[in-house]
Amino acid sequence: MIFKRLFAALPAALLAVGLASAESGTVLKGADIIDVIDGKKVRNQVVAIEDGIITYVGSERRLPDGDWTEIDLTGTTLLPGLSDSHVHLTSGANVHGFRRLTRSTARGAISGVVNSEITLKAGFTTVRNLGAPGFTDIDLMKAIDEGEIIGPRIIGAGQSIGITGGHCGDATLLPYEVQRKSGGRADGPWEVRQKVRENKKYGARVIKFCGTGGVLSPNTSINAQQYSLEEMKAIVDEAKLLDLKVAVHAHGPRGIQSALEAGVDSIEHASMITDESIALAVEQGTYLSMDIYVSDYILSEGEAAGILEENLAKERMVGRVQRERFKAAFEAGANMAFGSDSGVYPHGTNARQFSKMVEWGMSPMQAIQTATISNATLFGIEDEIGSITVGKAADIIAVNGDPLADIRELEDVDFVMKGGVVYLNEFEN
Ligand code: ARG
Repeated sequence: MIFKRLFAALPAALLAVGLASAESGTVLKGADIIDVIDGKKVRNQVVAIEDGIITYVGSERRLPDGDWTEIDLTGTTLLPGLSDSHVHLTSGANVHGFRRLTRSTARGAISGVVNSEITLKAGFTTVRNLGAPGFTDIDLMKAIDEGEIIGPRIIGAGQSIGITGGHCGDATLLPYEVQRKSGGRADGPWEVRQKVRENKKYGARVIKFCGTGGVLSPNTSINAQQYSLEEMKAIVDEAKLLDLKVAVHAHGPRGIQSALEAGVDSIEHASMITDESIALAVEQGTYLSMDIYVSDYILSEGEAAGILEENLAKERMVGRVQRERFKAAFEAGANMAFGSDSGVYPHGTNARQFSKMVEWGMSPMQAIQTATISNATLFGIEDEIGSITVGKAADIIAVNGDPLADIRELEDVDFVMKGGVVYLNEFEN
């Protein structure tokens, strides 16, 4: 079912300029391929694509007779389309602090249209959108899948679920007399179950809730747990009944541990994860989606972008610790996702996180695996995307150099194909 919805994107061919049609066969020739399954580079390959699906990968030069569109990518490196497990397409990196009070839900959706295209053209062919007011992420997904606008495959969480005054949208700079309640606010086991059901009803394909305070919300503590274990268990149980995975925002150790005990699928941020919690995550296979680039943006550009001192102070507490815990978790063998929180920092620069991951202990191949096959597994669609494999969707990107030698090559993607449709080809004159 998910497969059908994810791949109902053929009309996008009409939008993509000067592009090969997804319906006739396309051949990509001459490139080296990053094989993320076996963790190696394979030289000088041919990839054939029919109806948006990869039908051949190998060194064969002769193809069956037919109407093949050939794209010569000699000397480039092909990778599976990248994915990001934590984005906010409807948020803008220059809209923080008081500025957020001026933003309507519709205005966020308009930005989302632009951000979707920027994200896709940066090589991110699938994203998990972890929270959007008014289900605007679901609307973006539909507009993209119907071919009306250009963007990545979107797995949307709809409205994030959070406690009264919590980080998930309900904390506010407004005073008490201006009563404001976020769409995902819910307290108590039955209220949270109702929110899970509501999200499902309006098209969410993953559940996001906040299990601790946050860096960028007012009057929340990153250390404090939000939701009792009982409420967390109710969210996870209800989501499982409805066949949905659960992502929890959690910085502080208690919230992280409780969310792990409740059985979430991924911990977002996981900034102060303890050794005990890492061990539990390893045992359960829980993914850690640690956004270890964004701190650089917050601390250098954040003030100009409107972030208030209260929040900058929280970032100073958490940024470096999170990187150290990333290294500890990775070395302990935890499943690592690639989640960046784009929207806090500018969309389209998601790939900057790769060099941080390498700086903090991963090989370039391991960092690439997080954003391809690991994320696909976390999303539950590893049979459909995440590697350049026969039978999977033709979500393929190319870069000029060798990302295994210099991971920063991924910050400048030159070719992007999604579902067999080319959205960017800078190799073409
Ligand atoms: N949205 C997150 C929050 O407000 C951003 C955290 C960014 N900082 C970090 N070190 N990951 O909590």
